[in-house]
Amino acid sequence: MVATHMDWNRRFACRTRHMQRSAVRELLKVAARPDIISFAGGLPAAELLPVEEVRQATDAVLMRHGGRALQYGESEGVAELRDWISRKESPPGAALSRDNVLIAHGAQQALDLLGRVLLDSGDTVLVENPTYLALLSAWRPWEVRFAPLPSDANGMHLDRLPHVDARHARAKLLYTIPNFQNPSGTTLSEPRRQEVVQRCRDNGIGIIEDDPYGELRYEGDAPPSLYALDAALVRGSPEMSNVLRVGTFSKTLAPGLRLGWVVAPRMVIDKLVQARQATDLHTGTLSQWIALELLEQGTLEQRLPAIRTEYRHRRDVMLAALAEHLGAWATWTRPAGGMFLLVTLNTCISTAELLPHALKAGIAFVPGDVFHTDGSGANTLRLNFSNTPPDRIAEGIRRLAEVVSSRSVG
Ligand SMILES: Cc1ncc(COP(=O)(O)O)c(C=O)c1O
Repeated sequence: MVATHMDWNRRFACRTRHMQRSAVRELLKVAARPDIISFAGGLPAAELLPVEEVRQATDAVLMRHGGRALQYGESEGVAELRDWISRKESPPGAALSRDNVLIAHGAQQALDLLGRVLLDSGDTVLVENPTYLALLSAWRPWEVRFAPLPSDANGMHLDRLPHVDARHARAKLLYTIPNFQNPSGTTLSEPRRQEVVQRCRDNGIGIIEDDPYGELRYEGDAPPSLYALDAALVRGSPEMSNVLRVGTFSKTLAPGLRLGWVVAPRMVIDKLVQARQATDLHTGTLSQWIALELLEQGTLEQRLPAIRTEYRHRRDVMLAALAEHLGAWATWTRPAGGMFLLVTLNTCISTAELLPHALKAGIAFVPGDVFHTDGSGANTLRLNFSNTPPDRIAEGIRRLAEVVSSRSVG
């Protein structure tokens, strides 16, 4: 019998036409070459990851919990870890409980699950323009419409928010990264936070506050979270929150643990649990126990100051190198924390077309068009400063300036 060739292409579900490999993750494969200075990924510095602490914590967990640490676990996550997160996330005047927390495989899975339970085809989602690429990828298969809110150095523009009422009256959700945004590095100012929270409540628009970078602040005071501002409007009741808050240990402990969370009213957590029981049952038990051990040992508090100091230094080196080499060709954001800044070239060169030349010169960045939902941003690029040693940052920016200037003149 002759085996016939089966064409799986013809069997893919319609929704897969909205799926594609992430430009950023594909680029990371090339950028991982040792000869490339990569500003492309959103990676923590490998040398700051808590290798020895994780080794000791793993031993301690296996000694203490034995097989329990390797067993199936609750879909919501390890109860003691949810307790820890609920204490950390409780805003002033509100007491969250473990029932308000779901632990996921990173913030990314949290966002995916939220999309699964909240979005229908045709829904409108307000997003900062530009915004986090993998959120767009996660939610596009649900056939939602992303409505871009223009952003400046203080975050999304509020004078354009009236169009939330008019043009986008049926917007269901607003997704925001208020601290050291990905990709722009900007932070939503406190007055704008207050207004966003109030207006979204008034207009029945739920807020997804994604805050992976809030702990990485290098200067100034932290404004209150949208979650805290909304809680103040409902006397701290977690069950009445209009804000669902997403967090992660990826940028502070280690991304390889794949641990993130959602803080939400119980009815939302319950729906997320239903979705995740049909997806992956629960987050890896061993990872959760290791993270809890690290947190109880105080690893996070001990290590965060050194992480902040090093990343602040790397940011400053990048800003200084940009001023020295790229001032004639571009402008850029000045982040007060986080891992990224966004460069806008003065000329209308496409940074996607610039990238192959940059790779030839031994540097990588992410072309900014992929973060924009309105077709703009072709002359922007995202630079990560946390994952490259300072001397390589300075050299990389010098090379970037050479590539930009040669393409601009030619
Ligand atoms: C804005 C934003 N949200 C979510 C994530 C996903 O983080 P995690 O590693 O926790 O899945 C990232 C990672 O880069 C991010 O920048």
